[in-house]
Amino acid sequence: MTGFAVRLDEVSKRYRPAPGQVVTALDRVSLSVEAGSVVALVGPSGSGKSTLLHLVGAMDTADEGRIRVGERELTELSRRDQTAYRRTIGFVFQRFHLLPALTVVDNVAAPLLPRRGAADVVPRARALLDAVGLDGKGDVLPSRLSGGEQQRVAIARALLSDPGLVLADEPTGNLDSATGAAIVDLLLRLRKERGMTILVATHDRSVAERCDRIVRLADGRTVG
Ligand SMILES: Nc1ncnc2c1ncn2[C@@H]1O[C@H](COP(=O)(O)OP(=O)(O)OP(=O)(O)O)[C@@H](O)[C@H]1O
Ligand SMILES: [Mg+2]
Repeated sequence: MTGFAVRLDEVSKRYRPAPGQVVTALDRVSLSVEAGSVVALVGPSGSGKSTLLHLVGAMDTADEGRIRVGERELTELSRRDQTAYRRTIGFVFQRFHLLPALTVVDNVAAPLLPRRGAADVVPRARALLDAVGLDGKGDVLPSRLSGGEQQRVAIARALLSDPGLVLADEPTGNLDSATGAAIVDLLLRLRKERGMTILVATHDRSVAERCDRIVRLADGRTVG
């Protein structure tokens, strides 16, 4: 899978948390991300980083503007096409969102297990665990792993569909700095091997500085 290029044109997103109240989370943001690059999104709390990732991941829709990911114009997708699109991208979150009752390998395989014709999914999940440095840990429960190891499991799970784009929201936010640095190393290595595009929202300067490019947001706008 080659990485998807990502392009936002004048994208705005407003939330209405209460009647009569409007929060402009993104205000006419334009951004062009090269296929296969790793881009850090930085900015103060509330500046719109997560909102931008949610829109690019089609977990939410923009009020205005256009978002193009690879060949897809997200604003023109039907519900069904949005679901199909989400299967072509990977998500990594601050809280790893692993299922505590499933073994590590089943956590990685979980997104594809309910689908028919997925007979090879468990071997693929094991191969991904090897790729993220967790060979031999497949049969334990996530609670037996450290935070950094749990995040590696989440990254392996995000790669199961061979995504063209990975969206990571504060992937090192729950980790100490050395463990966080190892997670960034892992993402950079995986990008080199697989060529996917990665967008990573982070408060951590040392994480941002290792990315190919830094995009700064403030009050829902790109700055600098
Ligand atoms: N579901 C929602 N309902 C109402 N307001 C929201 C919602 N999600 C985000 N917002 C508001 O939109 C703005 C942008 O939030 P967002 O979560 O994108 O910021 P962020 O840059 O990710 O912040 P942080 O660094 O704290 O994660 C904030 O003012 C936030 O309060
Ligand atoms: Mg956020």
